[in-house]
Amino acid sequence: MLLTERSVSLGIPAARLPAAPHAGSLPVTAAPYRTRLPGMSRWDAANVPGQAGRTFVVTGANGGLGAATVRALVAAGAAVILACRNVAKGEYVAAALGERAQVRRLDLADLASVREFADSVSQVDVLINNAGVMALPLRRTADGFEMQFGTNHLGHFALTGLLLDKISDRVVTVSSGAHRMGELDLDDLNWERRKYRRWAAYGQAKLANLMFAYELQRRLTAAGSPKLSVAAHPGYAATELQSHTESIQDMVMALGNRLLAQSAEMGALPSLFAATEKVEPGAYYGPNGRMGLHGYPGRSGSSAAAKDERVARELWELSEKLTGVTYTFGG
Ligand SMILES: NC(=O)c1ccc[n+]([C@@H]2O[C@H](COP(=O)([O-])OP(=O)(O)OC[C@H]3O[C@@H](n4cnc5c(N)ncnc54)[C@H](OP(=O)(O)O)[C@@H]3O)[C@@H](O)[C@H]2O)c1
Repeated sequence: MLLTERSVSLGIPAARLPAAPHAGSLPVTAAPYRTRLPGMSRWDAANVPGQAGRTFVVTGANGGLGAATVRALVAAGAAVILACRNVAKGEYVAAALGERAQVRRLDLADLASVREFADSVSQVDVLINNAGVMALPLRRTADGFEMQFGTNHLGHFALTGLLLDKISDRVVTVSSGAHRMGELDLDDLNWERRKYRRWAAYGQAKLANLMFAYELQRRLTAAGSPKLSVAAHPGYAATELQSHTESIQDMVMALGNRLLAQSAEMGALPSLFAATEKVEPGAYYGPNGRMGLHGYPGRSGSSAAAKDERVARELWELSEKLTGVTYTFGG
């Protein structure tokens, strides 16, 4: 069922008027991690332009950055489909947001669930590929993929391909500063021949997210499509992401979250900026503070590996083979 924004707003601030047009594309400088944007350096959720009449799909929306993203979008007047594996947690988030927030089941670690979810969506303006898992012990998805690569990259790759014709505006894919420690092993993307290393697997998955976002934009442009593909990362935000190692590392990271991380609301800002502002095709946004870990949204740099177009093409072809989802760029 198609969501509309015309429904009742329960305790949500009235939809804002669209913001003044953005001052233009954000400049990229030689800064390796971020760019400070004059006049934009304190862009926050209150700056989200009015989104009345627009529909968003946000994956992993039942907690952490996803929930913060949804709250800000609904407050700006959007209708949002919370695409969640744990529907009960999603309903808890949605309950405070009124009828413009709707929960639907999506398990990115199961391609049958991805297809079922995509079939349930009739039209969407913006897809935010936000869900993710980090540094798990070796696990496999329902389709046999390594869990981090399968959930973070392949699930979103399949979802985006299945929805693309129904998306009117753009796709935002959430990567991470950890993409810099990632290496893609195209001969063993699913860790079947290598000894599994959980952090290397996370780096590979987040590198794949970013390469996918860049390659999607190249393919949209080549097809003459006005649709956009944009990437974002939250820097370092205290969420549940850091609690699934099933080891002492969870305790260490819980302490880090308390002492060093920014809030989920701050971490969601680059995604919100990428999803709602006038952005440059294929751009990558992250916090503008030191090392790109904290702060307000700005342009973010990425590793040389992320920009390797030959590898990105191969990753794309392998992802189509593994998921059975072939992209069409008709719409
Ligand atoms: N927090 C940070 O500092 C940080 C830094 C860099 C990048 N990121 C990225 O930011 C994104 C959001 O993470 P977060 O920090 O908000 O973590 P989080 O609080 O753990 O949220 C992750 C979300 O992903 C969902 N998810 C996990 N596996 C799923 C699956 N198979 N199908 C559907 N949904 C699934 C989780 O749902 P369940 O409740 O069902 O588990 C949860 O809603 C991730 O892509 C992460 O890599 C985060």
